This record gives sequence, C-alpha cells and structure tokens, in this order.
Amino acid sequence: MADQAFVTLATNDNYAKGAMVLGKSLRNHNTSRKLVVLIGPHVAEPTRDVLHKLFDEVVQVDVLDSGDMAHLSLMKRPDLGITFTKLHCWNLTQYSKCVFMDADTLVLANIDELFEREELSAAPDPGWPDCFNSGVFVFRPSKDTYGKLLTHCEEKGSFDGGDQGVLNSYYSDWATADISKHLPFIYNLSSIAIYSYLPAFKQYGHEAKVVHFLGKVKPWNHTFDTKSKSVKGHSQDPSTLHPDYLLQWWELFSTSVLPLMKEEYGDKPFHSGCEAGEDVHDVTPKVHVFQPPAPPQISSQQRKQQWEQGQADYMGMDSFDNIQRKLDSFLK
Ligand code: UDP
Ligand code: GLC
Ligand code: MN
Repeated sequence: MADQAFVTLATNDNYAKGAMVLGKSLRNHNTSRKLVVLIGPHVAEPTRDVLHKLFDEVVQVDVLDSGDMAHLSLMKRPDLGITFTKLHCWNLTQYSKCVFMDADTLVLANIDELFEREELSAAPDPGWPDCFNSGVFVFRPSKDTYGKLLTHCEEKGSFDGGDQGVLNSYYSDWATADISKHLPFIYNLSSIAIYSYLPAFKQYGHEAKVVHFLGKVKPWNHTFDTKSKSVKGHSQDPSTLHPDYLLQWWELFSTSVLPLMKEEYGDKPFHSGCEAGEDVHDVTPKVHVFQPPAPPQISSQQRKQQWEQGQADYMGMDSFDNIQRKLDSFLK
C-alpha cells in the first residue's frame, strides 16, 4: 500500500485549511494509504508545518494557471484558472496509483476501496452528468501523461477554464466507454446536488462517503461559534452548503485542526474562523447556515402551474416532508 496515496492541493492558506480537515478525516477513517498534499509557493511556513503533521508528504509545486478569463467567467469563478496546478499530481511517480481529492471534500467513511478502480475513474458532475467531476478521481501518476495533458492544455485549452474542462476533453470517452470508471455519486456528493434532487438525498444520502463543498462559498468562509457549536449565517446563495455536513466540517476543524494551528502559529495572527460566543445560554438553533425563504403567498392554481413547469419549491411548500404529510393525510 506504500505505493498508493490520496492526494490533494492547496495553493493558499485558506484551501490549506480544507486540506487539513480532509487529511484528518481520511486518518480518522483509518486509511491504509499515504497522504500527500501539493502546495503552492505562497503557503505560509506555520501552515506547512501543520500540513507536515497531517500528511506523509508535502510537495511544493509551481502554480499553473489557465488565465482563461473568458471561460472562467462563464462559471462565475475567475479564481479557478489556478486549478490547472492540479495536473502536477501526475508527477507523483513514486506512487503507482492515487486518488485525487479536492481540498473542499470531507471523508465520512473509509474509502480505500477506490484503489481497486482504474484511471480515470470519477463520479458524474451534478451540473452535466456526462462530464465527470474532477473533485475526486482515481489516476496513475505518469510523466508521460503529465506531458500529454500539458500539450492538451496548450493546444485545446479548457472549456471551463479549469482542470475539469481539460480532463473531460482528454478522457473524452469517460461517459460511454467503461462503466467501472463511473464512481458512485456517494464518493463525491456535492452539496449542490442535495437541493436539486432532495428526495434522492433522503433516500440515499445516508450512504454518502465523501461530501464535496463545491461552489464559491467554502466551509472556511463561515464563522463557527465554539460555545454553541453552531455555524454562523453567511450572506450567500443558500443552495450550496448543507448544514449538517458543514457542521461536521467545523467540528473536525475546531477540535483536531485548530489546536495544531495554534501550536504552529503561536503568537502570530491567523484567521481561524472560530469565535467563542459570550452567551453560554445561547438558545439559537444549533445550525443556522440559512433560513429557507418564506414561501410566497400564491394561489393553488399558480402553484400547480409552477409545479408543472418544473419549478417545484423543494425547500418550502413542495418539500419532501410536506408532500409526505399530504399523502399520509389522503391515505388516512
Ligand atoms: N484550489 C487551490 N487554490 C485555489 C483554488 C482551488 O488550491 O485558489 C484547489 C483546491 O484543492 C480546490 C480545487 O483546486 O478544492 C478545486 O477548486 P474548488 O474546490 O474551489 O472548485 P469547485 O469544486 O468549487 O468547483
Ligand atoms: C469543478 C470541480 C473542481 C474543478 C473546477 C474547475 O467544478 O469541482 O474540482 O477544479 O470545476 O475545472
Ligand atoms: Mn471542489
């Protein structure tokens, strides 16, 4: 197993927090594989020291950036050109097989069985399921593949401006060639998907092994109240983060990662995102990441029309619980 590793990437100190939580979550679930983090040159010294405590290898790499503003702005994520840096993972040829995981993923169970899969295995992207999401994928390090990927970037570019666009056009037969390369969605459950298909989440969500905080707002952009153990609200699009997983992320961060950061940072300032609220008797709900918007007062005719147009109010009037209540009352 010494020649197999989980690999993640953090080009800056914020994403490094994500990498720390991911590393800790892999260890907590007793992985037998090595843990490797790729870092950019600007990651601070104390952050590197914490990473050394959690990972077997901390490898500094040059930052690769697509600089492709045109495509990145389509995704509304100008920051993601830098994800080309991910391609460096193919240079880790001291390993025969690896699983790459984004720094914004959290492991909920042992996932060592992923090493039984072949390159390039990945789960469908929730936005376009004939593409794979490049937040979790199985690959075989190879200088040859790395070279070919770079050539591909130079010649063809990336249709999303980030690594996922390149990888999907390079491994272009993923959707059709070999079903064993389709990882089940439970290995890369994006919080976005929870809201777009809530009944499926109710049915299968408990099987999730990896949650992916895909999207602009990351767990570390919130503030955590260590006393009430709650995540403070954040002015954000409410569709992206699921409160229970967000809370799990913060609990792991505050109990297992923050103490390591405090050790390494000593007196030097750093942003932990943790606050100890003064009111011990705080009765605010445990997690209040978002409040579902109050349902607009519309007539049942309008509501029927919206439903028929596919505009169900999943989190409100047409929520799973409401539908179930209605069915139960009919059955009674
Ligand atoms: N990443 C990084 N620095 C950045 C942006 C991204 O190190 O400034 C890495 C990190 O591992 C991150 C991955 O690239 O998880 C992909 O970016 P992100 O997760 O933000 O994309 P999303 O999954 O939200 O599309
Ligand atoms: C995606 C993936 C992420 C990737 C980004 C840019 O949404 O989740 O891993 O880096 O797109 O291609
Ligand atoms: Mn991600």
